[in-house]
Amino acid sequence: MPPAVPSRIRITEVGPRDGLQNERQTVPTADKIAFINALSLSGVPEIEVSSFVSARQVPQLGDASEVFAGLTRARGVVYSALVPNLKGLEGALACRVEKIAVFTAASETFNRRNINATIAESIDRFAPVLSRAKAHAIAVRAYISCAVACPYEGPIQPSAVADVAQRLLDLGVDEIDLGETIGVAAPTDIDRLYEAVSAVVEPSRTTLHLHDTRGTALACLLRAIEIGVTSFDASSGGLGGCPFAPGASGNLATEDVVYCLNRMGMETGIDLRRIIGAGEIIQRAIGRPLPGRVFRAESPNR
Ligand code: HMG
Ligand code: MG
Repeated sequence: MPPAVPSRIRITEVGPRDGLQNERQTVPTADKIAFINALSLSGVPEIEVSSFVSARQVPQLGDASEVFAGLTRARGVVYSALVPNLKGLEGALACRVEKIAVFTAASETFNRRNINATIAESIDRFAPVLSRAKAHAIAVRAYISCAVACPYEGPIQPSAVADVAQRLLDLGVDEIDLGETIGVAAPTDIDRLYEAVSAVVEPSRTTLHLHDTRGTALACLLRAIEIGVTSFDASSGGLGGCPFAPGASGNLATEDVVYCLNRMGMETGIDLRRIIGAGEIIQRAIGRPLPGRVFRAESPNR
């Protein structure tokens, strides 16, 4: 007997943020807006639009305010953004962002390189961000990068991830998002991760953010579903990477997730044709083929 599967899985489309942040050539703001507008019509419930971070650190996303101002918000879609500190929150509030994501890591070295803070300092920085966000009824996701491994420190203990999750939950975040930043995990790593993390938060209150560097992300997603996780991040066409994680490639491709889950009888609400259409817009803008396998197999313009 195959294991029972949930009927519905929630996907957050992170292509416009995690996907684009690593692109060297500046993608015109109008192309980003066209991409997000097409994603908005695909049935995806949440889109991570951009980041309110230092434009010196992540030049590609320096137009976050313009992107928010230009996009057409579809009913029922949550538009979110990354926010590292109060200055980022100010930018997000000015753009009427409905949900923010603060971000830290389970690795000190990665966190220092990414946001120039220790883990403890970053969590201290989030406290006033959380209180202001709550005062504006803005939902808060909290990413923990390097949930399985760090590009600088190697394997990360699941207990270290659980410890950071507990500190973030104590601050009052709404959602824990576990980042498999460099795409090394196999399903057994997901078992070990959730064995520790389940002690502090129900798997169903977490989101899993998988990068597909070694082609193992879909296998990890399926294992996480068996554990009780029902929320995942994915990026259109497998766009992506992290400028502070050398060698990390794109997120798990949204089309690969939608295709596989649909065939297994699970619904995401996402129309495969439309999400492929959105990917074609950004593929044209970046001027090179996107790596997503279902995207490449099913795109009429491949
Ligand atoms: P810092 O240098 O420690 O900050 O950077 P600071 O407070 O000393 O300020 C330095 C300068 O940055 C000042 O400007 C500030 O005004 C400015 P100056 O006076 O020199 O002209 N500044 C800002 N500008 C715009 N927006 C802000 C902001 N804050 C300060 N919010 C900081 C700290 C966090 C800002 C910096 O390190 C940074 O922006 N890092 C970028 C981090 C990033 O975006 N990383 C990629 C996303 S994380 C990721 O991809 C992982 C994930 O996908 C999950 C996974 O895969 O694991 C989420
Ligand atoms: Mg990422």
